[in-house]
Amino acid sequence: MARSTRSTRTAPRKDGRSRTTVAPPPRATVPESRSRDISRLYPTKNDLAEETRVEVITLLNQRLAECIDLQTQCKQAHWNVKGPAFIGLHKLFDDVNEDVEGYVDLIAERIVQLGGIAEGTVGAVEGRSTLPDYPLALSSGAEHVAALSDVLGAFGRAARIGIEEMNELKDAGSADLLTEVSRGVDKWLWFVEAHQQGS
Ligand SMILES: [Fe+2]
Repeated sequence: MARSTRSTRTAPRKDGRSRTTVAPPPRATVPESRSRDISRLYPTKNDLAEETRVEVITLLNQRLAECIDLQTQCKQAHWNVKGPAFIGLHKLFDDVNEDVEGYVDLIAERIVQLGGIAEGTVGAVEGRSTLPDYPLALSSGAEHVAALSDVLGAFGRAARIGIEEMNELKDAGSADLLTEVSRGVDKWLWFVEAHQQGS
């Protein structure tokens, strides 16, 4: 087993006892040119024109950011919902999360298949997602149903815009992928917003 080379030190606490902290690992393992060059295209025998692939990758990275954002919001709802419908909604929100995680993977891997870099870090997502931000203080089932249906609806709209863009770029594979994703999100929107209906 490899031994950790990270050093530890002891920091004083207000209560007089001491606490062990771990020093951050040394940086500069990634060359600066590599950390900046996110527009780089990897060679591939995929016959879609390079200009097309560049545009598709940029647009799919936008949808990827929104899909990752959606996934974090599903978990936020899953963890924090309370009230008489707790168990049903807690499980439903996790089922939505599981499928959305699959959509994230589909979009990210399509980007890589086309020679691009899937930009899925928190920093990339934060600066790019156009979805509404999930309110942190929600608790009741009705509040979480309203918030999650808002964001599922917003993502469905973004996915449909993406399908149009892929059709214009004549990338049938990416259009089909986003069609699959939008169909799934539409289904989950139905499951969630059905809780607001029928009364
Ligand atoms: Fe859980």
